Amino acid sequence: MAKVIAFSNQKGGVGKTTSCINIAAALGQQGKRVLLVDLDPQGNATSGLGVEKKSIRHTIYDVLIGSVPTNEAIFVTKFKDLHLIPSTVDLAGAEIELQTGGTPAVRALDKLDDVRDNYDYVFIDCPPSLGLLTLNGLCYADGVIIPMQCEFFALEGLSQLLITIKKVRRAYNDKLEITGLLLTMYNGRLSLTKQVVDELKKYYADKIFRTPISRSVRLSEAPGFGMPICYYDPSSKSAGEYREVAKEVAKALR
Ligand SMILES: Nc1ncnc2c1ncn2[C@@H]1O[C@H](COP(=O)(O)OP(=O)(O)OP(=O)(O)O)[C@@H](O)[C@H]1O
Ligand SMILES: [Mg+2]
Repeated sequence: MAKVIAFSNQKGGVGKTTSCINIAAALGQQGKRVLLVDLDPQGNATSGLGVEKKSIRHTIYDVLIGSVPTNEAIFVTKFKDLHLIPSTVDLAGAEIELQTGGTPAVRALDKLDDVRDNYDYVFIDCPPSLGLLTLNGLCYADGVIIPMQCEFFALEGLSQLLITIKKVRRAYNDKLEITGLLLTMYNGRLSLTKQVVDELKKYYADKIFRTPISRSVRLSEAPGFGMPICYYDPSSKSAGEYREVAKEVAKALR
């Protein structure tokens, strides 16, 4: 049965979606079957994989409110072994509907169980908040990958997220683990970066992925072309870094 990983950090713009797309695509290229669930009303993972709004029939919103069977919401992308349950802005309304619906509000993602056996990994791209959508992601996941930029506020955000993870463990999902902290938009020459990394290592040394993701223009261009970096520019430094992290993820989840 697939391992489920939530990409989460309530801080916005830290590289959750970029990492989710690119690790998923790299694992697909490495022969693993991956389902990416876009759990963000912004739909960045959906557009970043080149899926156009007009070609979307069903979304994760339909799955969450139970209006279509999960398998009907799966979109087969043009990338090897990478499937997607897309999202559109409709999902923004789900938080209210889930609170008034039948199943417990934090358990709506259990509907993914119907397709979970078909994959090695299910990746959930969470929105930048600790609201009900993210809670659903954390309640359903086996592990969390926390992408973070090496900035001062990142440390404050991390403590908040870790408190939430602890609460989720206690109340709903005792198997939830921290798969790893992923350093994104990394520039090792900046002294602030070094300070933040030193601070992180004091507390979470064994949880930081060995490969940081460097800041790169190619990487930020790729979603505009609807492609993961390992398709858009397979020989780039960023593609190599994400392939390495994909291997680390696979190893951590064995
Ligand atoms: N390593 C990188 N180098 C340069 N730009 C990057 C890198 N990683 C991500 N970006 C860019 O930074 C922006 C934010 O990244 P991304 O959308 O992945 O973050 P996010 O955490 O998912 O954001 P949100 O919180 O809005 O969901 C995007 O424009 C993306 O292309
Ligand atoms: Mg995002």
